[in-house]
Amino acid sequence: MANDASAVFDTLSPAVSQGLLADPFTPPADSTLWRKNFLLGAATASYQIEGAVNEDGRLPSIWDTFSAIPGKVLAGDTGAVACDHYHRWEADVEMLVSLGLEGYRLSIAWPRVMDAAGVPNRKGLDFYKRLLNRLKEKGITTFATLYHWDLPQHLEDRGGWLNRETAYRFADYADLMSRELAGTVDAWATLNEPWCSAYLGYGNGHHAPGLADDRFATQAMHHLLLAHGLAIPVLRANDPASQKGIVANIGRGTPNSDSAADQRAAHLFEVQHNAWILDPLLKGSYPQDLFELWPGTEPLVLDGDMQTISAPLDFLGINYYFRTNVASDGAHGFRDVPLEGVERTQMGWEVYPDGLRDLLTGFKRTYHNLPPIYITENGMASDDQVTDGHVEDTQRISFLKRHLAAVDQAVKAGVDIRGYFLWSLMDNFEWAFGYERRFGVVHVDYSTQKRTVKRSAEWVAKFLKERKARA
Ligand code: FCB
Repeated sequence: MANDASAVFDTLSPAVSQGLLADPFTPPADSTLWRKNFLLGAATASYQIEGAVNEDGRLPSIWDTFSAIPGKVLAGDTGAVACDHYHRWEADVEMLVSLGLEGYRLSIAWPRVMDAAGVPNRKGLDFYKRLLNRLKEKGITTFATLYHWDLPQHLEDRGGWLNRETAYRFADYADLMSRELAGTVDAWATLNEPWCSAYLGYGNGHHAPGLADDRFATQAMHHLLLAHGLAIPVLRANDPASQKGIVANIGRGTPNSDSAADQRAAHLFEVQHNAWILDPLLKGSYPQDLFELWPGTEPLVLDGDMQTISAPLDFLGINYYFRTNVASDGAHGFRDVPLEGVERTQMGWEVYPDGLRDLLTGFKRTYHNLPPIYITENGMASDDQVTDGHVEDTQRISFLKRHLAAVDQAVKAGVDIRGYFLWSLMDNFEWAFGYERRFGVVHVDYSTQKRTVKRSAEWVAKFLKERKARA
């Protein structure tokens, strides 16, 4: 059997149904979560789940290259097979549907759909057409991300995001996809987490393509944001009925003490994590404090770029995971000061739901033109095991509940938040951490590809069922 999802309502253990699910499983009557039009879904990304990297004309991406280099990914894992979703997509859609999820955020693999000369690859395109059509038939709201980090290697060979030309190639790719897939996508996101692409990819080298220079990071960021800005009008022209936006990861930085230096350090942390992306998008300029942190790294910006980058958005996708406690590094920057005795996940990330609420309410104050928000990722990794056909991921249930409550608080404080996608539908290739870190609400046994619904997925399913019954 490809998955155990269809039986989900029959398999709730007494502990889950009476305990965790009852307590305060039923959110307060005035909670945002009950709003019928508050979308609840799950997210994935192409390289993390699809596998089939050499199939149907897919070209290599920077993650194929990077993960093949010894020492770059834990245990030498790669996305070559991943969750084999390219072949198992029908069962995976059934699983999503049986859990009652209303939204699905997926990404399209650029190297699957277009060659180096810009010629469309029909077989790759057909995969996404079949998938998106099926999701539409099933009534699932679809969010498609055009770039979730799998840059075609042939573009990296010409400088990747350090080359301005890549931004124009991205606009061509956005053009092709929105012409081919118009009508099947409810919301397009240009980029996923440009901070990670620019900083982890070109600034510290933890992600593909593995370069490490702050000047590279700021220039790569500029070209990523330019790519986004060039793509938005193209998407609007080809697929007017859909929403267009971008997905940014945000980080909460808190000061280790009340000292002015530590307060400044926390401010700089948030400038580097949040304002570096949100200021250009929403204010049309880079935050000058960024260049105090990284002197001499101003990117080359051509006339008109900032107007292109700051074109109005229909939505802003926000990914939130944890907070970082910081102190001054004694010079221009900050250093992490991990707090003792706090709850952490398998990633070592602190569980800190208030950070999500505080950042969202802060953005509302800072950006007068803040677009409607979707939480496009939030979740946690745990070392989940299947025992007697079940996965008791109680920390994840608690994590999701607390973060959903934080979202509700932000809505009540006036932030326009329209939905929430948990990360992730299923365990998958967690980038530099390979398969060891499990973020799914569905467990994947990578030796058999068997999917097992975790207790957290049962919890979400039960809530959605109840919400539907009340509607
Ligand atoms: C985000 C990524 C996503 C996943 C989660 C855990 O930064 O967008 O692909 O790896 O982290």
